[in-house]
Amino acid sequence: MSQRYGNIVGWGKYVPSRVITNAELERMVDTSDEWIRARTGIRERHVVAPGENTSDMAVAAARQALEMARVHPRDLGLIIVATSSPDYLTPPVSSQVQHALGAKGVGAFTLVNGCTGFIYALATAQQFIANGSCDNVLVVGVELLSRFTDWEDRSTCVLFGDGAGAVLLQVSNQPSGVLSYVLGSDGSGAQHLIMPAGGAAMPPSQETLDNRLHYIRMNGNQVFRFATRILGKALRQAIQEAGLTKDDIDLFIPHQANKRIIDKAARDVGLPEEKVFMNIEHYGNTSAASVPIALCEALEQGRAKVGDTLALIAFGAGLTWASAVVKIAPRLEPVPISAGRLRAPALRRAFRPLSVATLAWLVMARKLALRSLARLPLLGSRLRSGE
Ligand code: ACO
Repeated sequence: MSQRYGNIVGWGKYVPSRVITNAELERMVDTSDEWIRARTGIRERHVVAPGENTSDMAVAAARQALEMARVHPRDLGLIIVATSSPDYLTPPVSSQVQHALGAKGVGAFTLVNGCTGFIYALATAQQFIANGSCDNVLVVGVELLSRFTDWEDRSTCVLFGDGAGAVLLQVSNQPSGVLSYVLGSDGSGAQHLIMPAGGAAMPPSQETLDNRLHYIRMNGNQVFRFATRILGKALRQAIQEAGLTKDDIDLFIPHQANKRIIDKAARDVGLPEEKVFMNIEHYGNTSAASVPIALCEALEQGRAKVGDTLALIAFGAGLTWASAVVKIAPRLEPVPISAGRLRAPALRRAFRPLSVATLAWLVMARKLALRSLARLPLLGSRLRSGE
């Protein structure tokens, strides 16, 4: 295989069943359905039930992606989980996901980058496939912000929701997967979106609890300005780096943070409304899960399909931004099983379970070999008789 691409061959999503509508929020804080819809585009959001955790949502989305890709968890080369709301600060949630999936011994890591985490993870996964380290990489974007949201702060509690999305990248020689990406960061804006306590800088204490410092604090106006300034530029850059123009983009799948921000980014690049995917209405801002949930839903609804070129973009805490142009190409058959797990022992690699297509090929090869063998005595007798 000359050039190695990471084609997206499986996808899945999970959102908790509990829905909080704007009407319900009206009873909790001083807000209104009208304000929330006009300023953000959100009508409702999903939140987890007690006892349901980040790892549970990640596993549910990942299982769907793996089933669709027909890849067994133990054939994964790597698992990357993007989240800022893991079950614990340590151990990494990626190891919980790896264990729950039954991906015995597969390498896994957690990428903490706020709302841009999924696109950063996608770009990272592509490197492992391109350099030949892995054939199958699972990328999950998951967030459980409802437990880090101050439900008494109207400026943030109306915005966030919980959920997970996952994709399976598989090696392909067709130009596919992440064709280009732009990753950016500007730490000078760190204070605009921050959970002040709970980390090493401000460990938990009675004082931090009393001052509600374990919740997300956001200077919405500053984040809004940053997003509207950066998104159009980052999107144009990714499209250019892929050697394409805006007309080559079949669907624009942005981070679902605010309808006004999405509209502005699409206007900046000149993408018409019908090429913009939005589901913010039902989920709110699910941070690192927002782009993969939207990607999965766009594919499920037929708004995006195999063969399409998609533009993804996100912004968030850091402050950071990320954009990528992704192509979903038809799948290679048979499923490649040649290389795979990072530093997989050669023997284990050799005895990987064979795919159905490979087995069918082996059966056919055996039949042909037997047929040729059956003809051998006849050929031999012909030679002997001098024919
Ligand atoms: N209901 C009613 N009024 C409200 C609410 C609410 N829920 N929240 C704020 N207000 C009030 C404010 O108090 C303010 O009142 P004042 O003028 O009397 O002071 C007024 O509405 C306007 O406030 P602004 O903050 O200027 O409103 P804005 O139009 O900027 O919208 C919003 C606020 C929706 C938060 C917007 O700034 C935004 O979307 N910012 C981007 C946030 C974001 O996308 N973050 C993404 C990253 S998240 C991550 O990484 C986890």
